[in-house]
Amino acid sequence: MRPSVRGKAEPFILFFSILFSCSLSLPSVLAQSSAASRPWTNTSLSPDERASMVIKEMTLDEKITLLHGTGMLGLSALSPEIVHSNGGAGYVVGIQRLGIPGIQMSDAAYGVRSSGENGRYSTALPSDLAGAASWDLDAAYEYGALIGRELRAQGYNMTLGGGVNLTREPRNGRTFEYLGEDPVLAGKTVGAVMKGLQAQHVIGDIKHYALNDQESGRNAVNVNIDKRAARESDLLAFEIGIEDSDVAAVMCSYNRVWGDYACENKYLLTDILKKDWNFKGFVLSDWGGTHSAAKASAAGLDHEEPGWVFYSDELKKDVESGTVPMAELDDHVHRILRAMFATGVIDDPPQRSVVDVFGDLEVAQKIAEQSIVLLKNDQSLLPLDAGKLHSIAVIGPHADVGMISGGGSAQVDPPGGNAIMPPGKGNTHWQEKIWFPTSPLKTIRAKVPAASVKFNSGSDPSAAAALARNSDVAIVFAYQWESEGMDLDTLSLPEHQDELIAKVAAANPHTIVVLETGTAVTMPWAARVGGIVEAWYAGSCGAEAVVNVLFGDVNPSAKLPMTFPKSDADLPHPTIVKPPKVTTDADHQGWRRIAAGLPAFQVTYDEGVKVGYKWYDAENKPVLFPFGYGLSYTTYSYSGLKIAPGKNPRVTFTVTNTGNRAGAEIAEVYAALPAAASEPPKRLVGWNKVKLNGGESKEVSVEVDPKFLSIFNVEQNGWQLLPGEYVFMVGGSSQSLPLKETVTLK
Ligand code: BGC
Repeated sequence: MRPSVRGKAEPFILFFSILFSCSLSLPSVLAQSSAASRPWTNTSLSPDERASMVIKEMTLDEKITLLHGTGMLGLSALSPEIVHSNGGAGYVVGIQRLGIPGIQMSDAAYGVRSSGENGRYSTALPSDLAGAASWDLDAAYEYGALIGRELRAQGYNMTLGGGVNLTREPRNGRTFEYLGEDPVLAGKTVGAVMKGLQAQHVIGDIKHYALNDQESGRNAVNVNIDKRAARESDLLAFEIGIEDSDVAAVMCSYNRVWGDYACENKYLLTDILKKDWNFKGFVLSDWGGTHSAAKASAAGLDHEEPGWVFYSDELKKDVESGTVPMAELDDHVHRILRAMFATGVIDDPPQRSVVDVFGDLEVAQKIAEQSIVLLKNDQSLLPLDAGKLHSIAVIGPHADVGMISGGGSAQVDPPGGNAIMPPGKGNTHWQEKIWFPTSPLKTIRAKVPAASVKFNSGSDPSAAAALARNSDVAIVFAYQWESEGMDLDTLSLPEHQDELIAKVAAANPHTIVVLETGTAVTMPWAARVGGIVEAWYAGSCGAEAVVNVLFGDVNPSAKLPMTFPKSDADLPHPTIVKPPKVTTDADHQGWRRIAAGLPAFQVTYDEGVKVGYKWYDAENKPVLFPFGYGLSYTTYSYSGLKIAPGKNPRVTFTVTNTGNRAGAEIAEVYAALPAAASEPPKRLVGWNKVKLNGGESKEVSVEVDPKFLSIFNVEQNGWQLLPGEYVFMVGGSSQSLPLKETVTLK
């Protein structure tokens, strides 16, 4: 079969290969076919029927072809098949003879990772975590739809986005790519993102399955956790997302779980994912995460990425010798073909086109505006009154030119390049700080043209404080950068920014801190500043969105999708367990070495189901800002709680906007289970985002999925609703729940 060692691709050939990569797109292939010879082109048949028909015609080699990638462009030598790759992280050769197109995969966590090779424009949405902070499933659908449209415009038919690992460890360097600490919020959000994406006829993906909750030693770590706790926390987020979206692919993770690598873990892949959750799509390995042929195949891994260490010659031999039954191989192939038919990538292949840049920037800005969380607003310092301000100090690293973004495979190339680099030097590199060219300084100047708006980078805190002292208001843009392949040592802001903020606040009490972070941060200065705004990694239009919130054009409505603890010491684990010997996870040249397997080290999540607020609640630890918290420029009150028990209990209550300004309140519903359940004090079971004009009241209802009230019974391998007393609590954050009612459920 194919040679396994390749040299370096020649750029000019790659250029032509990209240029002509559409030449084999499906319509022409289909045009040559007739419905009679290719009955699977009949769109009235089910995806399963169509996939089965194709499989009947396939040779063993063709089947194997679909079960692995062909290497990442730029890391592989040219081969006849690679010339059709679009330059994304993964490419699967199609079966031209049968009219099955290749699969063009791109990373697309918060936008299409366009990468130097592809060289196309992509819109950067606010980070995934920011999306979750909107608690808005319509916005999440739009988030996915935008990515789906831009993938298609760049010639891709599959995303590698969809990260939903729970924020069990907030120092995890990929926290910005995930959706927070609660399985219901995270699961519902990723489900909506994938629905929006797959509606564009792109294969969706949810990752990294499972328990890949830290980056340190991710290829070696073995995760130990109680099974029930896993089903009720990390795995529940996947379960909800997969069920809601019928996603076509799931990426298994690098780490081991309960002794086996996730990508050859039968309990995870077959027993839970394919049987319990009835997942009909295909499982692909994270890049280099395949570690065997027969074992992985039997465990339920359908596809190896990015190359073919195991799922080629070795798998073929195993099939020929009968070690891997043909039916098992056919199931892998069936799942991939089914995914292609079900999502429409065969009937409606992508055509390269020009992205609706302005339309998509508008979507990105709207979502950012809905994602920005107002954490503190002493004496209504915010919103700022543009008509009354004469002088504004804008302080903070690079706040004159850009806003930070999240790194690693999620990185979206900034149009025009990294804002802090000279023009033309904008290509992104693995683990490099990329500042999007969305300038807080310029945007504030445009908002208040009559005021004197001065900038100080903060590198000299005394100079920054002097500027603040002579200004009506000081706005400090503070950042914390994260990337795949690394974890944070601490939740403290880097680069002495705590000292900077403290000095500025001492000079001017009218100090507002805007945080550009990918996870929680500690804030030793919180009591001394007038306002705190969490903007996350705000994307292509971050500055516009932040400034609209600061000046009141937008009334903030977002709420924290994760707890902000008071200190690192309050986290379930004092430090992240590191591998005994540092492994170069980020070294992409090392796929084979990684695939060969690294010696395991142990991480034990003995906090179990107590992730995020469940931990702080159970341990009685005060926090800085609780899960579900966020202020508005108006205020809300809650009244009239009624619970209608039944299979899906219905929680009804009234929310009133007690101020003058229109806004949207995220009304949260929590439940405490009967004591016999031995669960943490409460869990989120639903929410409703209510739009209200000043003074307006609305009665809203939340129907609660019985699964969200259940415990997972490992012996019976199923969800179990314990009979007993359930306390329902309703309010505006996990720690402000003015309505409470107890009902007995049977
Ligand atoms: C990441 C995946 C990503 C893949 C392809 C891996 O390093 O863990 O999330 O999709 O690379 O870029």
